[in-house]
Amino acid sequence: MYKIAVIPGDGTGPEVVDEALKVLYAAALKKGFEVETTNYDFGGDRYLATGEIISEEDIEELRGYDAILLGAVGHPDVAPGILEKGLLLKLRFTLDQYINLRPVILYPGVECPLADKQPEDVDFMVVRENTEGLYSGMGGVNYRGTSREVATQIMCNTRQGVERCIRYAFELTRKRGKKNMLTLCAKTNVLTYAHDLWWRTFNEVGEADYPDIKRDYAHVDAICMWMVKNPEYFDVIVTCNMFGDIITDLGAIIQGGMGVAAGGNINPEGVSMFEPIGGSAPKYTGKGVINPVAGVAAMAMMLDELGEKSAAEDVENAIVAVTTTKMESMNAGRMGHSTSEIGDLIVEALG
Ligand code: IPM
Ligand code: MN
Repeated sequence: MYKIAVIPGDGTGPEVVDEALKVLYAAALKKGFEVETTNYDFGGDRYLATGEIISEEDIEELRGYDAILLGAVGHPDVAPGILEKGLLLKLRFTLDQYINLRPVILYPGVECPLADKQPEDVDFMVVRENTEGLYSGMGGVNYRGTSREVATQIMCNTRQGVERCIRYAFELTRKRGKKNMLTLCAKTNVLTYAHDLWWRTFNEVGEADYPDIKRDYAHVDAICMWMVKNPEYFDVIVTCNMFGDIITDLGAIIQGGMGVAAGGNINPEGVSMFEPIGGSAPKYTGKGVINPVAGVAAMAMMLDELGEKSAAEDVENAIVAVTTTKMESMNAGRMGHSTSEIGDLIVEALG
């Protein structure tokens, strides 16, 4: 019996989460495990109504679950940063979900914007550090709004934070067993303190404990170029929080767009949180046109993390069956089906 906390969140989050749960229950029935879900109404509407985002007690309560499934965070009537920092980043940091795992996998049947690239060409994983770097919140502002204004935002890297992320990435590369190659994505030619720490840690850990894994390096700007030109080159990429944020949007678009891209905020020793990475897409809210595939794929990642490997694989295969033959497009409103029909088709493919 798995206890799952569900945060549908803002915009199209709830619609996407509904389909993910539909498929989750079908998978549970098929595989013979039980799930119990509890909904939490954190998000923009609650904030606008009560002024509250999430309390420390709420977060303590969330620690009691086996996993968290999140729809989307971001509300058009709430100023940028409030919900992002107050809810999403708050959960990632407080629950110490130090890995943001984002597969970049082009499913068969999904249109790729890169000329001549096939599913076998777009199949890699990004391991994004998820608790520090430029997201640490350190820094500050003086003389705000004046001509003397000074603003800093510190890229904070700790040996411990960098090392645990790099170790996770090496382990994943080994487990994946594809090319046995881990690429460090950084900017060692400019960030000569912060990314020198990454470079040394990467080499020390790799040399000592992962001699079987090939160590590869590319600057982040070059990675952007290679991801477009030669995505087939990559196996696993490990990178800092900010670079990971940016390159995974690029990754999302080469795997068919925000409708399919999923991610996991993982604390290997604690409670992890899974989410479609596309955001709340407010303009599509309530129309039943949003693509739920990313939400279902996030749920499959959750099953994998919970140890239900075979169920996770079955859900992935069901997604592929649907993207291959049943969907006209991955874009909202152009799927040839409604949001809930896609969920039904995935359940049907699951058998
Ligand atoms: C993401 C998002 C978040 C991030 C925002 C909403 C804070 O862009 O999950 O990639 O920057 O991490
Ligand atoms: Mn992002």
